[in-house]
Amino acid sequence: MKPHLARAVQHKLPEPYYIKSVVPIHQIGRDEREAALNAAGLNLFNLRSSDIFIDLLTDSGTGAMSQYQWAALMQGDEAYAGSASFERFQGAVHELFGFPLVLPTHQGRSAELVLMTHFLKPGDLVPNNLHFDTTAAHVQYQKAVDLNLVVQDIYDWDSEQPFKGNMDISRLADLLSKEGDKVPLVLLTLTCNSGGGQPVSLRNVREVKEVCELYGKPLFLDSARIIENAWFIQQRDPACTHMSIREILRQVCDCADGMWMSAKKDGLVNIGGFIAVRRREHYDALRMYEILFDGFSTYGGMAGRDLEALAVGLLEATEPSYLAHRTGQVAYLATMLREAGIRTTWPPGGHAVYVDGRHFCPHLPVEHFPAQALSLALYLAGGIRSVEIGSILRGRDPQSGENRYEGLDLVRLALPRRTYSYTHLEFVGERLIELKQDAGSIRGVRFEQETPVLRHFSSSFAWV
Ligand code: F0G
Repeated sequence: MKPHLARAVQHKLPEPYYIKSVVPIHQIGRDEREAALNAAGLNLFNLRSSDIFIDLLTDSGTGAMSQYQWAALMQGDEAYAGSASFERFQGAVHELFGFPLVLPTHQGRSAELVLMTHFLKPGDLVPNNLHFDTTAAHVQYQKAVDLNLVVQDIYDWDSEQPFKGNMDISRLADLLSKEGDKVPLVLLTLTCNSGGGQPVSLRNVREVKEVCELYGKPLFLDSARIIENAWFIQQRDPACTHMSIREILRQVCDCADGMWMSAKKDGLVNIGGFIAVRRREHYDALRMYEILFDGFSTYGGMAGRDLEALAVGLLEATEPSYLAHRTGQVAYLATMLREAGIRTTWPPGGHAVYVDGRHFCPHLPVEHFPAQALSLALYLAGGIRSVEIGSILRGRDPQSGENRYEGLDLVRLALPRRTYSYTHLEFVGERLIELKQDAGSIRGVRFEQETPVLRHFSSSFAWV
């Protein structure tokens, strides 16, 4: 066995499914990849999917649905209002998360638009463990300030802390005691996407809840990967090993006033999202904006058939065999890379492996965006698409207008759910290990054209 696979295989579990329908993929040649990358303005978001061999850009909406989800699509009730599909979907959300009042939205960020429009006014402060980029952008869009109060362990590569996504409780309490009048709500992101897919412990959720109660602030959960988070709680907290995934989910949600979810992740669907709340006053206020932005409150931008697939997907995502295999794939790739001396966030997170771009490319200064540079090199090496989660994604400081170089420069290899095999992952790992041997040849980039909002999606770059 190849040495870099020796420890990684510990995580190798048989797929808890077999393949019934396949999508052929094809690797174009190196020259064609270079031409495609130049035509894309050195921005991997601008590539055509046919120019990609293995697509690890995101785990959002890119997974495979089960036969039960495809069958459920046929039952979609497309009534504009009051559809039976909505009732089935609402029932699944209620059953899993316990919130009685549910507003579908077409994806996560439309839920964020609804929430932030209702809760925020200019000058407000919004604490979170670590905002995802769309959440931060929606906070800023309301002229409020996004604050990241995650524990410092998340920035420590060697720490084995099992819950690096935790909120720093003393910083939260300090903020609320000093500037609580400017804080309309508190957010918690599970798992913590921008910090490596790191989980938040049940104890930390409870502590955040206690602080929120003390200061009378509502707590909302950014729940895109809340089911993977529940898996880590069960696996990594000895006090919770006896609990089922569903019990853990309920205990987490019982601490919150509401949740929103980009269902394109743990909902196991290609499109969808929702907001769920406990209190009628929240529901009534949010519903008004939901109807304005996303459509009537029993479909919220989704077709009835999409609601059906989501109702089934949410329940499937709590299956232990699925969660063990999924997180095992992530751990497998992370272990393979670490064995070869490539620095990745650790312990492995839920949905992706994050490679440290600065460590991989020590010859590149932060101004040359080492993680973006590495993601481009990986595409050229194997037709593999990843994404920069670093200074480009963080954008500029709203006050000073400066690039935010503080923080990490990561290349995220996000694994679509139930989609790629271990052999695909080994192909990715081997290309990275080869690249590492000649890392000095990786070229840095600068902005050619920079867009002002969510610039990583649509800017173009040039080689330095
Ligand atoms: N919150 C988190 C934690 C997310 O990861 C995302 C999306 C959103 C909110 C927004 O949801 O895309 O449905 O509008 N994350 C994707 C990703 C885009 O690639 O990680 P959306």
